[in-house]
Order: sequence, then structure tokens, then C-alpha cells
Amino acid sequence: MSFHAVIPAAGIGKRMGVDVPKQYLSLCGKMVIDWSIQALLNHPGIESATVALAVEDDIWPTTTSAEDPRVESVTGGEERSHSVLNALRSLLQHVPEDDWVLVHDAARPCVLEQDLSRLMQLADQGTGGLLGVPVHDTMKRTDSHARVTATIDRNRLWYAQTPQMFRLGLLHGALKNALAAGVVVTDEASAMEWAGHFPQMLEGSASNIKITRPSDLQLAEFYLARQALA
Ligand code: CTP
Ligand code: MG
Repeated sequence: MSFHAVIPAAGIGKRMGVDVPKQYLSLCGKMVIDWSIQALLNHPGIESATVALAVEDDIWPTTTSAEDPRVESVTGGEERSHSVLNALRSLLQHVPEDDWVLVHDAARPCVLEQDLSRLMQLADQGTGGLLGVPVHDTMKRTDSHARVTATIDRNRLWYAQTPQMFRLGLLHGALKNALAAGVVVTDEASAMEWAGHFPQMLEGSASNIKITRPSDLQLAEFYLARQALA
């Protein structure tokens, strides 16, 4: 069985509020994107990584990952889903459609090797799935004036993380068709759900955060430092 990484990295990181896209910020002596890509490529089961980049990205060539012979780059798209689709299309030209892909955000540098292994074990049963963590807070829905109108049952509610792992051909087809049908696709699992599949949720670690706002960088530093001691 073969596994490949797909890394969407074509975003601008608007919510971080800094000039440099967040995947290129420095974190414990490495760029965020280098942590994310190397976390996957350090896993002995993962053969390659295809990275989707913004047009005219002149920072990528300065990364360590750009020099890695296992890494290919492609041009990303308007939304994350288009970036992923472009990477899958490129990968399909080189590897069989039955191979597995792990789609992982460039902005998630703290993913643990043991969680990658557990996710990859799903492939033994022929099942695709994703990492996530259960919701522990009480969930509220509000109206347009932020007035609470409902409390949502948090039982069996999860935060979806990445990696999300599916067969290359199946995911490519599901994503392509969902986008053509005008469905809003914020992660790979939602395209697979739309196509009638039931992705397996696997409980991962709360430390697998996506860097979104400035304070997340400090949190990621804390987690990486803790991993280095383990
Ligand atoms: N991404 C992408 N192509 C896009 C938009 C996002 O490849 N058109 C990538 C980002 O680079 C990131 C991942 O998808 O690694 C998750 O997206 P998000 O956290 O939303 O990143 P940004 O879109 O860059 O941030 P923001 O939404 O704050 O602008
Ligand atoms: Mg975004």
C-alpha cells in the first residue's frame, strides 16, 4: 500500500493579520510549512508530498522542503478545495488511483507521528477517514444579532482536523463533482460525505492545532517544545 501527502499552502492567512502568509512564519527555528511537510515525510510510510502554492510565491523556494526531492509543487486555486483538487490532479498523473493520500494543512505543524500511524492503519480495512477531537464546550446557535436561539447537543460533535486520508481516485472524483455541483467544500471529508461515503472519525490530539490567529503561534511553540522533550 502506498501513501502520499497533499499539502494545501496557497492561502494568504488573512486572519493572522501579518504581511507574510502564516505558513512562512518562523516557529522554533523552522518555517511553519517545513514543520508540517516534514512531519508527514518523516513518517516511514509516506512516499511523497505535493504542495499547492499561490501564484508568484517567492518565499517557497527559500524553504527547506523545496529542496527535498520527494516534494513536488503545483499551483493552488481560489479556495482551499481548488488547491487540493489541483494537487490531486497532478498526483494522478504519477501514481495509481488506488494509492492513499493524506491531505494536511500547511498551517498544522504539530501533528504527531503516532496519530499519522493510527490514521494510516484505517487503510488496512479499506476505509478512509480523518483526525478530529470531540467538542467539550456547550455549543450555542445565535441569530443575526448574536442572541442565543438554541443549544446544540454536543454529543457526537467533533472538531475536524487534518490529515484527512482517502483513496486518491475516489477523493479526486468526489471533490471534482462536488465543486462542479456548487457545493461548499471546506474539507476533504465533506466532499466524500457528499458523494455518499462515511469517513471514519479518529480521535487525535488537541495539540494538532491549525495556526489561524497570532496567539496560535505561541501555543504551537509550546507544543513543539514539549514534543522535542518527549
Ligand atoms: N489554502 C490553500 N488555498 C487557498 C486557501 C487556503 O491551499 N485558496 C490552504 C492554506 O494555505 C492553509 C490551509 O489551506 O494551509 C487551511 O486554510 P486556512 O487556515 O483558512 O488558511 P488561509 O486561507 O491562508 O487563512 P485565512 O482564511 O485566515 O486567510
Ligand atoms: Mg482560509
